[in-house]
Amino acid sequence: MPHIEQHKSLKKYNTFGLDVNADFFTSINSIDELVEVLNSEQFLSMPKMFLGGGSNVLLTKDYHGLIIHNYLKGIDLVKREEDFVYVKAASGEVWHDFVLYCIDNGFGGVENMSLIPGSVGAGPMQNIGAYGVEMKDVFHELEAFNLTTLQIEKFNNADCKFGYRESVFKNEKKGQYFITSVTFRLNLNPTVNTTYGAIQQQLSVMNVEHPTIKNVSDAVIAIRSSKLPNPAVLGNSGSFFKNPEISASEYERLKNEFPNVIAYPTNAGFKVAAGWLIEQCGWKGKVVGSCGSHKDQALVLVNYGNASGDEIYQLALAIQDSVFEKFQVKIIPEVNII
Ligand code: EPU
Repeated sequence: MPHIEQHKSLKKYNTFGLDVNADFFTSINSIDELVEVLNSEQFLSMPKMFLGGGSNVLLTKDYHGLIIHNYLKGIDLVKREEDFVYVKAASGEVWHDFVLYCIDNGFGGVENMSLIPGSVGAGPMQNIGAYGVEMKDVFHELEAFNLTTLQIEKFNNADCKFGYRESVFKNEKKGQYFITSVTFRLNLNPTVNTTYGAIQQQLSVMNVEHPTIKNVSDAVIAIRSSKLPNPAVLGNSGSFFKNPEISASEYERLKNEFPNVIAYPTNAGFKVAAGWLIEQCGWKGKVVGSCGSHKDQALVLVNYGNASGDEIYQLALAIQDSVFEKFQVKIIPEVNII
């Protein structure tokens, strides 16, 4: 049985740096350890929550149950074809470490997602994405532990029902599985994706004409570092809200009233830049108590040190209300509020 701690502060285990306590806490290094914990009499009927990098949660209160911290590690090359490799990463690996492993080995596909905070296992959970690439574009399959049957099951790309920051694990299968590993299909002859405006610009600044995956990764790291606060310095969990998707007719209405609105066409209509909506409501850089909306990216809520999760939640609600009042557009949190 892995070591169990009681009344454990979760401050170090969430990127907002919120100091809430868990009644019980354990770190698991293997599936066997997980099975032992799940089968133990003491925890059978107790609420349980898995935490990876803690980069997508807002902990608003103490957790009365068992926190299982994912410490599954390992990256293995499982298959090599002429143009592709399949690499299996344990879900507790740090996402950016995995990206660096791919770049060091010349495996293309994940470079645009450099420096996204969190663990490998959190990636498919909400189909992480950045700078024109999403998890689903490099995903081959995953293994997940069914918490009811205690069996490992495999999910392919279609099974995961990936959408914009969505997957089956956030919806109909919520709380039923623990992702143990993710296998990626990566390109041995990568063509880089620099279509996202800021990347081209950054590559020019870096004087790079024929970018490699390492160049793209460096460009993304530079862009992210310039406008997204580092959670190790200033508590945050990246974009707090999703960019809302609206219909073409709603977009027309918005565009008529607000000609400068920033939005991108999608299959279903338009995706509006939530950061722009929030900025227009006057929140960008505003400090409310110990938290606020970041000065360089309004979509990122930050903890200036001593904020409580509830304070950040109240701020999020106030932002949501004012965006709705001004634009009649509902913005929905990307972050899981616990
Ligand atoms: N904008 C503003 N004001 C702001 C922030 C943004 O006007 O305060 C405008 C920008 O000028 C730009 C547009 O909004 O024209 C989009 O901004 P940005 O490129 O910064 O991207 P985003 O849509 O705000 C999304 C993802 C990020 C990802 C970036 C880059 C979501 C919810 N967020 O942000 O992902 O890094 O694109 O691909 O989709 C995350 O999910 O946690 C995350 C950081």
